[in-house]
Amino acid sequence: EASVEVDVSSITPGQTIKTVWRKQPVFISNLTPEEIASVKAVDVASLRDPQTLEERTLPGKENWLVSKAVCTHLGCVPLGAAAGEVKGEFDGYFCPCHGSHYDAAGRIRKGPAPTNLEVPEFSFLSDTVIKIG
Ligand code: FES
Repeated sequence: EASVEVDVSSITPGQTIKTVWRKQPVFISNLTPEEIASVKAVDVASLRDPQTLEERTLPGKENWLVSKAVCTHLGCVPLGAAAGEVKGEFDGYFCPCHGSHYDAAGRIRKGPAPTNLEVPEFSFLSDTVIKIG
């Protein structure tokens, strides 16, 4: 289907869930204040694919990161969403296929992936429901 609606009310700060949209896995993360501070502290000009957190989230909702769970190198599903999974050197997502490390904003920081995890078009239908697509 063209879009999917996800109730995010049970996603606590620091937690990520995986959903599916257009047959592809998608991460929805509720970033903690510490994660937000740490990704904002990065010099954007130093990034391979320079993007601020604000450019990857919606105004006033910057704790909600929605990103395709598809490594931009060759398409593996990165780890880091489920509790206990390795998050990589930048405390976000880690692609074990060839070692790409993404930060908590889903930005590529190390390894072969050329670009950040893609942010699909999404919006909030209410405070607790996200529509992807
Ligand atoms: Fe992710 Fe190659 S597919 S690093």
